[in-house]
This record gives sequence, structure tokens and C-alpha cells, in this order.
Amino acid sequence: MKLSVNLAERSYTITIAAGAFAAGLEAVKERKANNKSKIVCVADAAVLSLNPDKAASIGEFADIIPVEGGEGSKCFEKFAQLSSELALRGADRKSALVAWGGGVVGDLTGYLAASYMRGIEFYQMPTTLLAMVDSSVGGKTGINIPEGKNLVGAFHQPIGVFADIDFLKTLPPREFAAGMAEVVKCALIGDFELFSAIKATKGTFNPESPYLPEAIRRSCALKARVVSADERESAASGGRALLNLGHTFAHAIEKTSGFGAYLHGEAVAIGLVMAAQLSADLGYANVRAEVEETLKKCALPVRLSARLPMDDFMEAISHDKKNAGGALKFVLIDRIGKAFTQVVEREKVVRVVSEFLG
Ligand SMILES: NC(=O)c1ccc[n+]([C@@H]2O[C@H](COP(=O)([O-])OP(=O)(O)OC[C@H]3O[C@@H](n4cnc5c(N)ncnc54)[C@H](O)[C@@H]3O)[C@@H](O)[C@H]2O)c1
Repeated sequence: MKLSVNLAERSYTITIAAGAFAAGLEAVKERKANNKSKIVCVADAAVLSLNPDKAASIGEFADIIPVEGGEGSKCFEKFAQLSSELALRGADRKSALVAWGGGVVGDLTGYLAASYMRGIEFYQMPTTLLAMVDSSVGGKTGINIPEGKNLVGAFHQPIGVFADIDFLKTLPPREFAAGMAEVVKCALIGDFELFSAIKATKGTFNPESPYLPEAIRRSCALKARVVSADERESAASGGRALLNLGHTFAHAIEKTSGFGAYLHGEAVAIGLVMAAQLSADLGYANVRAEVEETLKKCALPVRLSARLPMDDFMEAISHDKKNAGGALKFVLIDRIGKAFTQVVEREKVVRVVSEFLG
């Protein structure tokens, strides 16, 4: 199945299928045949060792540079090292990069592509669920600095995304579940049917679930729609900011608990429940129970596993918001499948936070 991200001259296609990797390979090979320039594939080291045959096929026409998955690789040192590698290997303005891995490899490689020679083209070949439904689509690229996550980056759209669902078979279950948090988020923002289908799952939603390809397609379609309408998150209300549903709470959970205690998707799951409670408190949708039930179907947490200090948590929320101009603006749920942004009084936020922090 194919979807389009419509951004005038920066438009591109997302191909989602078991076997999409082969289609991606053909597209990259054809590009190389046409313009003869070097192709460099930045690849997740775990993905490389799990897929020696696929690595060999890319290696026939591209240089492969392995990078460890995990947040630690999204740093200046790695960015500097890769920039030098590109120069040493003779990459030029017509060269293209391939990001083959999860969100870490995608964000890092995307930023490298945005910066090298003031911008070269790149392809996304996501291998985690999170990367397939979220990070590979939309053009946000970047790295972390000690002062915060994703503080340095650029908008740089890929020229093609090839999401091969077969890669998900080797993904650790906890990483798969973390990706499902973003799927549930997309459903809450704009896809009632998607939400209902996940909620109706018998047992746990897993990589073998027959509905998975459709869930990925629907999540990507939602993201493509939102990004096409508000590429740089500049809309005064709604727009790309809707994709942050649950994320202000999630960022505060990650920061206050010390990065690493929760996977990002796990923090997002708890953040979605908090956003549902905030929405209910403000007189909008009263859907917390349904949200919890659906997240549990995805083997995701709906509560914190340990107490967190209130002051630090509210400080983290204010910090997240300061970057957006000071007001405590949240994404709220109007009904399942419809979200909106609104400024919320601090004490209403405190009430929700204090229930969750215990
Ligand atoms: N750019 C965006 O719009 C955007 C959106 C959401 C998240 N992100 C970023 O995405 C990053 C997280 O991405 P992630 O969750 O994919 O993490 P990740 O890239 O670190 O991958 C998670 C783990 O899975 C391993 N892995 C990857 N593919 C595998 C496979 N097929 N089989 C087995 N193991 C595999 C990796 O080696 C790693 O250990 C964060 O840095 C976050 O900031 C970016």
C-alpha cells in the first residue's frame, strides 16, 4: 500500500508492505544508476546483524555505516563522525543517504542529510514500529544535546519512505508496544475506526495481529494528512501540534524519572491517560476508561511504576511549555477521533498530575 505526503515540490510516497525493503532497494539503485553518485546507508547495528542478506544487497551499491540504536547515538559526536565519514568517502551534493533502522537512526541520518553540503536527499527505511508510524514521516530530524532531547535539528523531508513490516518480527516486544502508543495516539486524534479495531483485539495486539498493516497505514495516513496541512507546526491552533497529544505529560515523566526508566512510548501511554483525564475534568470527552483498556490491549502501562516528585514534574511541564511561548496549552480529546488544542489553567493540570503521581 502507498500513501502520499503532499508538500508541493517536497512531496513523497510512503510504501507500507511486507517486502517494502526490496522496493526501496530498487528505488535507491535506480537513483544511483541515473546520477552515478555515492549512496551511503546509515544502518542500525542490530538490524544489520539480524539481516545479513539484506545488508549484502544494499552493500552491492552503497557504503554501509553501522550505528548503535538507542538515544546515545543521537549526539553531536556521532553526527560529527558521520559527517567526516561522508566527506572521506567522497559523498557529494548529488549523493543520497539511506536511514535503515529505528527512530534514532532516522533522526540522526535525516539531520546529517539536512546539513551535509547544505542538504542532500535521503530515504527512510524504518525498522521499528515507532519509526514506521511516526518518526520516518514528516521531516523532523535532529539530535540531542546535554541540555535536552531533540534541541538541535532541522525540517528535512525524505524523498521516499519504505516501511517493511517484516522487520517488526524481530523487534523486542517492549519496543513493539512502545510503537503502539503512537498508533493509539493517532487513533485518538483522528481515527475512531482505528481506535475501535485495537480496542476489539482479542488478547494482546502483537506483530502477528492481522490488523497490523492497516493500523500502520491508518497511522501514517493521519500523520501525512496533518503534516501536509501544517509542515512546520506553525498553525495557531490544532495542526501539527495535535500530534503532541499526551506528549507534554510524557516528556515530564521521562525527564523526572531520569531518561531511560520508561521507553518514550511507555511514557506516551501514561501521558495519553493523563490527557484523557484532563479532557474529562474540563468537560470534554469522558473516555479515560476506554483509553486505558485499549492501551492495556497493547501491553502498555497506564500508571507510573514509582512515585515522582510533584515540583519537578510541574517544572518539567512548564519548561516544555515555555518553549512554546509560556501558556499551558494542551492537546485535549473532544471525542475519540477528534482532538484540539486549548490553553489550560495550571491548577487543573496540577489536579490531574497529583492523582497520577500518588
Ligand atoms: N522525527 C520525529 O518526528 C520523531 C517522532 C517520534 C520519535 N522520534 C525519535 O525516535 C527515537 C526513538 O525511535 P525508536 O523507538 O525506533 O528507537 P531506536 O531507533 O533506538 O530503536 C529501538 C531499539 O530497537 C532496535 N531495533 C531497531 N529495529 C529493530 C528490528 N527490526 N529488530 C530488532 N531490533 C531493532 C534498535 O537497535 C534499538 O535498540 C527517539 O530519539 C525520538 O526522539 C522522532
